[in-house]
Parts: sequence; structure tokens; C-alpha cells
Amino acid sequence: MLTLALALLAISLPHSSALPAPESLRRDVSEAIKSVRCADGLLPTPKYGLENASFSVCTEEIIHAPSSLIYNALLDFRQYHVWNTFVTEVQLPAAVQTPADVYPGLDIVFTTQGLVPGVDTLSIEIVTLLDPPAPHKQPAKWKDWNHDDGYSIVAWESGVAVQAEHPTSLQELGGGNVRMISWETYYRPNDTVVLPIAGALQSAFVQQGRDLKAYVEGLI
Ligand SMILES: *[C@@H]1O[C@H](CO)[C@@H](O)[C@H](O)[C@H]1NC(C)=O
Ligand SMILES: *[C@@H]1O[C@H](CO)[C@@H](O)[C@H](O)[C@H]1NC(C)=O
Repeated sequence: MLTLALALLAISLPHSSALPAPESLRRDVSEAIKSVRCADGLLPTPKYGLENASFSVCTEEIIHAPSSLIYNALLDFRQYHVWNTFVTEVQLPAAVQTPADVYPGLDIVFTTQGLVPGVDTLSIEIVTLLDPPAPHKQPAKWKDWNHDDGYSIVAWESGVAVQAEHPTSLQELGGGNVRMISWETYYRPNDTVVLPIAGALQSAFVQQGRDLKAYVEGLI
């Protein structure tokens, strides 16, 4: 199988060693981010907002599962091969084994399928934001949780010479349902590298959202 690095760059990435305390992961997320819906088209990201935004891909799913379970599935990179038909392999430092080991600044390398027919693509990403469901308020029985503002989010950004950020937010809707929104916004001027495959990327996001829903709902 051929391998193509998205921006045709091979970068030697530094690896952080210290893991921050969980408290340091939480951070205020703006109302503009919390109210993102795919139908809005061009979508802000936590790190880059909307300035110089070129295009967004986005998918939404209603998932019938606790937000903590979905959140952990998103960060359990070593299990992606089990459920994710888009990101089929993830390279991580050996010290990162579980979701609890993931920290802002972590480098991850995704192997993705379906963007270019017959070719595996490599995508180098850096974790930018981890705002988990409040653990102290997680209910023993997931059907009646009611914690915090019911919003949690993870995000990573492109680690190559294309400015782009990919957040996935989880909003508790009550009744055991969570709205998952996974989007990625690309910014000028280097968005031109990815523009030719924007349609394929959108399709891959939709499929990945369906994969996540099927996987997590199958866990409960
Ligand atoms: C947006 O693009 C302009 C023109 O290239 C540039 O001067 C400015 O720094 C960019 N803004 C951000 C936030 O990158
Ligand atoms: C855009 O690409 C050029 C050429 O590879 C690079 O020098 C520049 O840093 C890139 N800009 C961003 C925002 O990644």
C-alpha cells in the first residue's frame, strides 16, 4: 500500500514526557464553539476561531450512551482499528496507552483510508484541547446523569504546514442521548493542499461518526 503524507512533509516531532494533572485539562470553551452545528457551514474552532477560515467538514450524530464513554472512545487511540473505518491506525508514544494518558501537545499520527482511492494517507496531529465530562459528577447509572453544563470537547490540530483544527464536541440532551459534533476547519492560505479532497474528507467524517455511534452504543 502506498503512503502519502497529506502535506508531503516528513516532520520529526518532539515528544513531551510530563503528563499534566487532570484539573489542568479543563478550560473555558466559548459560546461560539458550544453552539456550532454542521448546518452553519463555515465553523469556528477553539484555537483559531473563524479568521481566514476557508472550509469546514462536519458530521453530527445522536448517540445513545454516556458522554464519558464516548469521550473515552475518542481518546482511546489504540482501539481505533476496532471501530474506525477512516482512521485505521494511530501511532503514539509508547507512554500513551489509555485515554487518561492523552495530554495537550501530544503528537498523534493517523493512518487514514478513503481520501485518495487506493492510497493510505498519513495525518500528523497535535492535541489542542481536552475538556472532559466532569468526573466527580458522573452518575453511577448513566441514564440519569446531570452534571456540569453537559458539554465536553476534544480537539487536535494539523501538525504539518496546513492550519486546521478538528474538534469533537459532546452535548448531553437528556433521555440518555448525546449530540456528537465532529468538525474540521481549514484555513488559508495552505488549505489549497486539501481542497481537492474536501468532498472525500466530508464523506469520511460522516462515516467516522456512524462508526463511533455503532461502536459506543455496542459497548453498553
Ligand atoms: C489571516 O490572513 C492575513 C493575510 O494573510 C494575515 O495577515 C493574518 O495574520 C491571518 N490571521 C491569522 C489569525 O492567522
Ligand atoms: C504554508 O506553507 C508554507 C510552505 O510550505 C509554509 O512555509 C508555511 O509555514 C505554511 N503556513 C502555515 C500557516 O502552516
